[in-house]
Amino acid sequence: MKKIIIGLTGASGSAYFLRLIEVLLEYQIEIHVIASENGSQVLKYETGVGLEEQIKIWNEKSPDTSITLEDNNNMFSAVASGSYRCDGMIIIPCSMSTMAEIANGITKSLLTRAADVMMKEQRKLVIVPRETPLSTIHLKNMYELSKVGVTILPAMPGFYNHPKTLEDIINHIVGKTLDCIGIDNNNYKRWKGKN
Ligand SMILES: Cc1cc2nc3c(=O)[nH]c(=O)nc-3n(C[C@H](O)[C@H](O)[C@H](O)COP(=O)(O)O)c2cc1C
Repeated sequence: MKKIIIGLTGASGSAYFLRLIEVLLEYQIEIHVIASENGSQVLKYETGVGLEEQIKIWNEKSPDTSITLEDNNNMFSAVASGSYRCDGMIIIPCSMSTMAEIANGITKSLLTRAADVMMKEQRKLVIVPRETPLSTIHLKNMYELSKVGVTILPAMPGFYNHPKTLEDIINHIVGKTLDCIGIDNNNYKRWKGKN
């Protein structure tokens, strides 16, 4: 069974996080969700969804997928250690603050520690940063992360596949994110390709 860590931070775009997990419910995957305080708050503000309640609903809906909500302060969690074998981590959406911490090796929360572990163990780490415009510091942090193999996948949807709805736009980013972590999916319309 694949094991994936999903980070939620206080950047705008928490709808991407919700859709990503909804898609993953169709797979047999062990998911560990780590949310920053601001991540939970922005999720509630933007979508009206409470994280804890939503995770209970997902677990009831899909018994094949196990979703654990981690305590972001708990450094005793299994996912804080490189000895916990997992297939990768996605941070969606990722704030500039969390990105700066990861780029500089600051690991005071479980979320940033888990990301640091991905890098030291050379596992997949996909970051979906969201801010606009970007400062030189934001760009420098992205560059530093990219140099050590982190995939930087900005929440920058394409319009070449003629999206009709907000869901189409969200699905595009979520589908690209899943591609990058190695999960086969038909979540978006590929350029000239058959899904
Ligand atoms: C509604 C709302 C939207 C925000 N959107 C962004 C954003 O798109 N990008 C960003 O970097 N920060 C954004 N912020 C600010 C972050 O939440 C803030 O920097 C916070 O300290 C990030 O903490 P975290 O990385 O621990 O979640 C937003 C804050 C609020 C309240």
